[in-house]
Amino acid sequence: MRTDDDSWDITESVGATAIGVAAMRAYETRRADALFSDPYAEKLVEAVGSENWTAMLRGTREDLREQGGSFIQGVMGYFLIARTLYFDKYFADAMDVGVRQFVILASGLDARAYRMQWPSGSVVFELDQPKVLEFKAKALAQDTPAADRREVPIDLRQDWPKALLDKGFDPAEPTAWLAEGLLRYLPGDAQDRLLDHVAELSAPGSRMALNIGPGERALSDDFRKRRAEALAKNGIRVDLEQLWYPWEGRTDPRTWFAMRGWLVREGDPVALLQDRGRTVLGAALPDMSTHILMTAIRPRGDDTL
Ligand SMILES: C[S@@+](CC[C@H](N)C(=O)[O-])C[C@H]1O[C@@H](n2cnc3c(N)ncnc32)[C@H](O)[C@@H]1O
Repeated sequence: MRTDDDSWDITESVGATAIGVAAMRAYETRRADALFSDPYAEKLVEAVGSENWTAMLRGTREDLREQGGSFIQGVMGYFLIARTLYFDKYFADAMDVGVRQFVILASGLDARAYRMQWPSGSVVFELDQPKVLEFKAKALAQDTPAADRREVPIDLRQDWPKALLDKGFDPAEPTAWLAEGLLRYLPGDAQDRLLDHVAELSAPGSRMALNIGPGERALSDDFRKRRAEALAKNGIRVDLEQLWYPWEGRTDPRTWFAMRGWLVREGDPVALLQDRGRTVLGAALPDMSTHILMTAIRPRGDDTL
């Protein structure tokens, strides 16, 4: 059960969802036809020291892999691959137009600060719960980030702008913000505050990318039950239904940014995969289209998407 001031480490509650998505990135990276490479994902998941999560990334347990009940080949798996591609390109495009300040809200086990080719002078701020950042720093202690990576340990329902400014964030500089796999873990009012803060701290030319959606609403109870059983049998307890706050009644970020004069554009997760030759299996298709991938740009005057 969530509360307004709950906290977690990497193995608990919302923290464990960061392991799940990293395991799927590791699984994709191991494929012969991988659509991206995240060489840090496997290391991060293995550092958790859980045989169950390691089995998931290796794909060695049939019931976790199988189409129908699976994390990996169900909607979460496909969507995760699509969103990794989408947000990688988002950051690369921002670099191309000269943005050098990047903020990853709820960075979890995101290794972009290590694995992307950042132009010199790039600063990447990573915000997440203190224990999650501690875990990652320890697991990657031998690795060197490819940008000036700055940790901001904070709960995103608290006064994170102050913590970010204290670490040297410059609100006069254009920023590329990312909220990947975050918004459904925030109550609707905390999401509103987060978007307000992003807008307040965004100089012209700043941009924001995020994903959100009703998610798995279209999945049958039977599907969810089978998947929960497959995970539980493998000692993995991640109950998204219990961790997410409701979709209904929440501000739609697309409208929110558009109303403030930002240029809003959406990505199509199914097309992102199909254009690269990855077939999305039937059971996952209906729900894929309910996921939103969005980029919004605060124009400088001559900006287009
Ligand atoms: C599904 S994971 C996504 C992590 C990362 N963005 C990725 O896609 O790999 C969700 C992350 O959100 C973080 N998170 C959720 N609510 C948060 C909050 N109120 N404050 C700080 N971090 C939060 C969790 O700690 C976790 O790392």
